[in-house]
Amino acid sequence: MNSIPLGTTGESVSPICLGTMFFGSKTDTETSRALLDRYYEAGGRFLDTANIYATWVDGAEGPTSEPFLGDWMADRGNREDMFVATKVGFEYGDVPQSLDPELIEREIDRSLDRLGTDYVDLLYAHVDDRDTPLAETMAAFDRLVESGKVRHLGASNYYGWRLARANTLAEERGLTPFSCVQPRFSYLIPHRNSDFQRQRPATDEFVTYCDDHDIPMLPYSPLLQGCYGREDRSIPERYVTTENRQKMETVRDIAERRAVSGNQVVLAWLTQRDPPTIPVVGCSTVDQLNENLAALDLTLSEHELERLNSIETLGGLH
Ligand SMILES: NC(=O)c1ccc[n+]([C@@H]2O[C@H](COP(=O)([O-])OP(=O)(O)OC[C@H]3O[C@@H](n4cnc5c(N)ncnc54)[C@H](OP(=O)(O)O)[C@@H]3O)[C@@H](O)[C@H]2O)c1
Repeated sequence: MNSIPLGTTGESVSPICLGTMFFGSKTDTETSRALLDRYYEAGGRFLDTANIYATWVDGAEGPTSEPFLGDWMADRGNREDMFVATKVGFEYGDVPQSLDPELIEREIDRSLDRLGTDYVDLLYAHVDDRDTPLAETMAAFDRLVESGKVRHLGASNYYGWRLARANTLAEERGLTPFSCVQPRFSYLIPHRNSDFQRQRPATDEFVTYCDDHDIPMLPYSPLLQGCYGREDRSIPERYVTTENRQKMETVRDIAERRAVSGNQVVLAWLTQRDPPTIPVVGCSTVDQLNENLAALDLTLSEHELERLNSIETLGGLH
């Protein structure tokens, strides 16, 4: 697997990031290990976790994903090879939803402890906090970078205007900006009125801002639960629109002609986007992972990209 630049960070990362939300909880130990081993064997070096993963799963007594990754990296002795992203900001256990400086400082130490490392490569604000002054949050994140506990910052579930304000403020004060973002983003675009609660789907304006400022998007839920290639998964309710039905037909038609799955077509569309996005892929079996990794070998033609993009796209095309 080749690596690609991560915006302006100077880092090179894997073009598909492995989402590990349910590792060690809903996804059993054996399968989670097999997924990590297979991803690594295929050359994948980019892992996505969060301090809260996956405390909401029945039977979970606390975070399971970070300690699982920590154990795996210790066993394999490969911490230095991996680019590890975690997140802070959502509530779990007795930790409230907040980006208060003290909470950020406390939580990064807990994440580092669970991951068995003294730094993370990327720390995301998992959700915005409009009650804590932005200057205080950005200064706290900057202190983590200065201390060496965090190498780069990202923002997840932010509105475009808040991201712009945070980065303008960081620039004015000489603080570390958010250098990448993790929005809900896929080929289908959700219905305008849908309620994703605290999740923020990418919007036209958000995508344009990121593209113009060389802030790479790392889409989560990129396959919408695998619906592009599964008979048992229809278009999710919040995505049922006339345009999306047409998009689905186009994906299926291209998949059939190329003898690949619809999920592979969408992953190829995401990774071939200009600028490319780096999908944060969730899998619960090694077969799914293999299929998703093989999407890196699928090159969509100009004509196929035009067909896919002609229906409705966010942020325009470059
Ligand atoms: N920042 C945030 O707020 C946020 C939110 C959500 C997720 N995330 C991150 O994004 C990652 C992925 O999110 P997600 O799980 O919601 O992604 P997703 O792409 O919507 O769904 C992943 C699921 O799709 C199915 N799938 C994947 N590949 C498939 C294939 N080739 N064929 C058939 N089915 C396939 C599997 O479902 P089954 O398991 O049912 O078979 C898999 O568990 C997470 O692990 C996490 O790291 C971040």
